[in-house]
Amino acid sequence: MTDPTEHYFTDNPAASEAERRELRTTLAGRDVTVTTAGGVFSPGGADKATSILLDVVPEPPAEGDLLDLGCGWGPIALTLAMRSPAATVWAVDVTERALDLTRRNAAALGLDNVRAVRPEEVPEETPFAAIWSNPPIRVGKAVVHDIMRTWLPRLAKGADAHLVVGKNLGADTLAAWITAELDLPVVRVASRKGFRILRVERP
Ligand SMILES: C[S@@+](CC[C@H](N)C(=O)[O-])C[C@H]1O[C@@H](n2cnc3c(N)ncnc32)[C@H](O)[C@@H]1O
Repeated sequence: MTDPTEHYFTDNPAASEAERRELRTTLAGRDVTVTTAGGVFSPGGADKATSILLDVVPEPPAEGDLLDLGCGWGPIALTLAMRSPAATVWAVDVTERALDLTRRNAAALGLDNVRAVRPEEVPEETPFAAIWSNPPIRVGKAVVHDIMRTWLPRLAKGADAHLVVGKNLGADTLAAWITAELDLPVVRVASRKGFRILRVERP
């Protein structure tokens, strides 16, 4: 995250019509109109870290279940869904405001392969063919570790996750923790403008 004042209110309700606004942006090489609102992460357009992630990631798997962990208004999930129309994209967040915006954006773009749901609504047996995330680092180490412990072991065998994390927000420490605690290899695939892109592999 780039806004140090950002907080997540898990009871943040869906934005009203008056609160919603439309903006033009480019996702997956397509000029699109999306809806955002105050009270979600980076409502003015894709955040710098998210843009770096989307620039660096490889083509996602064409099929299977893909996960955007912490979807906000949906830039990562929408990109996955546009690039992999035959895949199912799980867009997970803890705020109703984020989930509602992601659902609206997916519907407006004709993407019927996006499931924007709370974490507990993702079927537990679903193995992910890929995870892409700009994770909520500022929630604190203990919660971040819980989130990583919950989702990364759910990668399918041979699949990987790409995470963008600020260097000054502990990207290298998190990478070392993932390998030590979850026994998953982590490769630093890029370092740009103060952000690391970490690839977590499931052998
Ligand atoms: C850094 S923002 C990224 C949002 C969006 N993916 C983007 O790139 O603009 C992290 C998101 O994680 C969500 N979040 C916070 N705690 C979470 C949790 N325990 N599980 C899933 N998402 C969470 C926040 O509500 C926020 O939308």
